[in-house]
Amino acid sequence: CGIVGITGSRAALPVLLRGLQKLEYRGYDSAGVYVNDSATNDEFFFKEKGRVEQLEALVADKGIHGNTGIAHTRWATHGIPSAHNSHPHVSASGRFFLVHNGVIEGFRELKETYLQGVDFKSETDTEVAVQLVAKFVEQDGLTVPTAFRKVLALIGTGSYGFVLVDNQNPDVLYVARNKSPLLLGLGEDFTVVTSDAAAMLEYTHEFMALDDGEMAIIKGTDIEILNAANEPVKHDAFTIEIDAAETDKGIYPYYMLKEIEEQPNVIRTLLNEYMDDTSHVNIDDAIINELKQADRIYIVAAGTSYHASLIGKRMFEKIANRPTQVEIASEFAYDSYIPEANPFFIFLSQSGETADSREVLQMVEAKGFKSLTLTNVPNSTLAREATYALPLLAGPEIAVASTKAYTAQITVLAFLAQAMVDNKVSVAHPLAAIAVAMEAILQDKDRYKVLAEEYLVDSSSAFYIGRANDAELALEAALKLKEISYVHTEGFAAGELKHGTLALIEDNTPVIGLITQPKTAELTRSNLAETQARGAHTLIIATEEIAHSDDQVILPSVDSANDDAVVVDQLAILLATIPVQLLSYFTSLGRGLDVDRPRNLAKSVTVQ
Ligand code: G6P
Repeated sequence: CGIVGITGSRAALPVLLRGLQKLEYRGYDSAGVYVNDSATNDEFFFKEKGRVEQLEALVADKGIHGNTGIAHTRWATHGIPSAHNSHPHVSASGRFFLVHNGVIEGFRELKETYLQGVDFKSETDTEVAVQLVAKFVEQDGLTVPTAFRKVLALIGTGSYGFVLVDNQNPDVLYVARNKSPLLLGLGEDFTVVTSDAAAMLEYTHEFMALDDGEMAIIKGTDIEILNAANEPVKHDAFTIEIDAAETDKGIYPYYMLKEIEEQPNVIRTLLNEYMDDTSHVNIDDAIINELKQADRIYIVAAGTSYHASLIGKRMFEKIANRPTQVEIASEFAYDSYIPEANPFFIFLSQSGETADSREVLQMVEAKGFKSLTLTNVPNSTLAREATYALPLLAGPEIAVASTKAYTAQITVLAFLAQAMVDNKVSVAHPLAAIAVAMEAILQDKDRYKVLAEEYLVDSSSAFYIGRANDAELALEAALKLKEISYVHTEGFAAGELKHGTLALIEDNTPVIGLITQPKTAELTRSNLAETQARGAHTLIIATEEIAHSDDQVILPSVDSANDDAVVVDQLAILLATIPVQLLSYFTSLGRGLDVDRPRNLAKSVTVQ
């Protein structure tokens, strides 16, 4: 979900709507806005099922004015997507308005205990919070900050980013966060509150973060922050340098295509930033020493970042000979086994906000272990809370399906592998060559439109198979395809298919073979032949050195005469990454879907 709020001397509505547009990738099943004009005592409150543009159309002719407001775009957790379940939620008295990100775990008990007889308008957990504030103020006579604090205490360990408005004191925003991102954006004559800085970059580059359990009371540019014990605290402001234009799609029809095309430059930016003139990795020695000294390295992640971690493990083991274990964050948080005395944890996260990963980080910190976050969002929660953080420098990634962050993650993990062997091997040249080869692949992108139409657009299921690193890419390729095209796709270790899943192959089932690994190329081909013999429509994506002339996609060669063969093998999947991303893109497009905003999903998932 996405939150934005504003107080000060600037018209609220345009800022709120612009913020919602930018936040939409965090959830888009419904949206709402509340604006109050303290000068005239007018208030405006609108909610709509569907996309932000539907809300914009709804409010366009309503003459909304006022300088205080809150707005929200939703990714449903409790209650179906609908206008009445969307935020802001309002108290039965009509006095308090609240937007919320997160999940209030004990909301049913709170409702039973405190709110018997109250007329609820939604099935959400959030409405309980706003009704509770109203009860404590209106019936029990508490001040608003005291009532708000009491509600936060009752919610306890639940996750929340809250912004509350009281229409009896409408210039003030009451803000609180726990395990859910929320930043204050500092303007000259206004303050904004947002769950993602990128949403407010057109208005300010100065931000302040709140810590878990903190509450802020904001009126214009006056900001009072209180910790969980209600003591005043101060936080330093920080500057976010990203240019607001980087979050626009420019000439591209979809963010996903823009982000796919940016990948060669992402690799180059990373090479410039992380490598010195002699192609030695330039990363804080403290981090490299932690990696070298650890008895085991754990990489913890979710979704696409999890798939990049699987490649990371192979690089750490094959290039740097360091035992590495990859864990799915949501599993490891509650079922971990860490026998080592001195493990080191890497958190891989595009957004730096994934609640599942953060839960693991807190567990790791509590045990006193050190950690490193690799993230595309500096100052994100995971970056701030880990012992160390390194940026992925991919630029804002907006499409829900992650592309350039995956490439950036693999690239930075490759740098860490090189640094762990004291630069005895170099990933610099292979990566630079891959960036060039990626450009050649992108030049020919219409080819993937043809292949998507021939193989995937009309299919109801598909398979990606490969071995070794290709098996890991098969997982990511399958995720890419299913999340935006809704074609049921499985990514499989090619050799494993015959142990059961082969039963699913029917006439014309698309089976896409990924072949970038010389050692296993022929075995994967045998497995493809097995599927073909059972009617599969096979498509082979292979690197030039090991391709057959009739393979459908032959990836340009990466000149490797002077490069370490192990390094080249480890990185070769980056070449096949662009074709699988383009196949998903064109399949989604061919099926008439919204490529950037697939149903049911959100870019950044800040609930567990
Ligand atoms: C969401 C996104 C995925 C992403 C995953 C992990 O589910 O839709 O694309 O891979 O979160 O996100 P992170 O920001 O931690 O990499």
